[in-house]
Amino acid sequence: MSTHASLRPLGQSGLTVGPIAYGLWRFVGNDVPAARTRIEAALAAGMNLIDVAAVYGLDWGGQAFGESEDLLGRVLSQTPGLRGRMVLATKFGIIPGIPYDSSAEAVTRSCEASLKRLRTDVIDLFQVHRPDVLTHPEELAGALTRLREAGKIREAGVSNYTTGQTRLLQHHLGFPLATLQPEFSALAVEPAFDGVLDLAMEARMTPLAWSPLGGGKLTDGVDAADPATRRVNARLDELAASHGTTRSAVALAFVLRHPARPIPILGTQNPQRIAAATDALKIDLSRAEWYSLVVAARGVPMP
Ligand SMILES: NC(=O)c1ccc[n+]([C@@H]2O[C@H](COP(=O)([O-])OP(=O)(O)OC[C@H]3O[C@@H](n4cnc5c(N)ncnc54)[C@H](OP(=O)(O)O)[C@@H]3O)[C@@H](O)[C@H]2O)c1
Repeated sequence: MSTHASLRPLGQSGLTVGPIAYGLWRFVGNDVPAARTRIEAALAAGMNLIDVAAVYGLDWGGQAFGESEDLLGRVLSQTPGLRGRMVLATKFGIIPGIPYDSSAEAVTRSCEASLKRLRTDVIDLFQVHRPDVLTHPEELAGALTRLREAGKIREAGVSNYTTGQTRLLQHHLGFPLATLQPEFSALAVEPAFDGVLDLAMEARMTPLAWSPLGGGKLTDGVDAADPATRRVNARLDELAASHGTTRSAVALAFVLRHPARPIPILGTQNPQRIAAATDALKIDLSRAEWYSLVVAARGVPMP
């Protein structure tokens, strides 16, 4: 196993997480035993950070706002021992039609509703899903602080925030943000260059990388039409052949290789694929291999 494989603290919090997380964007439906099998497969593979959001359920075959949280809540209520084995992360702030609301009232209401759907009494990591630029960060910081003091959330994080938005929220918050969550993959490389991963290292926040397999585009057998995906997949396949592994394992290894120690949030709903993702932890990409993927994503040589 490479150095990526070890457990690590979540930001400056006392929570400890595995090197890969499991995401529930596509976790929908009414089959509670199948849902439980996926959660157990993720925990068995060391993916103890479980990432959901209030809005998950509105797409990917789901029917309603809150559906993914509710399905996870049903799993947790039927198998109570699972809750203590996970770091439970959810998100607030996307409300279709509005579309973003991080006002104090909305944040507080969203937290109560998530706790109810999740059938738990505390959310370990409460993340702003997308920035609501019409809420002053001081107001949002106040709401997060009150929720934390009331014991309803343990830690807070942001997602899809610019570095400036993250710094500003942190400026108004009396405790350290634990995480930030950009899209980061061998196809979406910019967080390594636009300051987001630099800020994570500077402020000792853990980056959680969403869609680390490009939402399925960087997986074995996919024959994508767009040129950037074609270039990246061709290079991933060369690296997979030389490392004796799969395209998706190399794609995850790309995310893991950055010194900010990003945690890829895996999105598959297939228990075998959940287990297989840990192959990525055995791969150490060389500096030349890593940059060759950036060149493939951008379609131009490094300056
Ligand atoms: N903060 C945000 O705004 C945001 C946005 C998007 C996502 N997220 C988070 O990131 C998580 C992951 O996103 P994602 O689902 O797009 O991630 P992903 O892991 O990049 O893609 C998952 C997709 O790849 C497919 N896939 C095909 N072959 C696979 C293989 N060999 N191994 C693994 N997957 C394979 C899966 O299909 P099967 O299920 O059929 O395997 C699934 O549809 C979400 O659940 C959510 O927690 C956050």
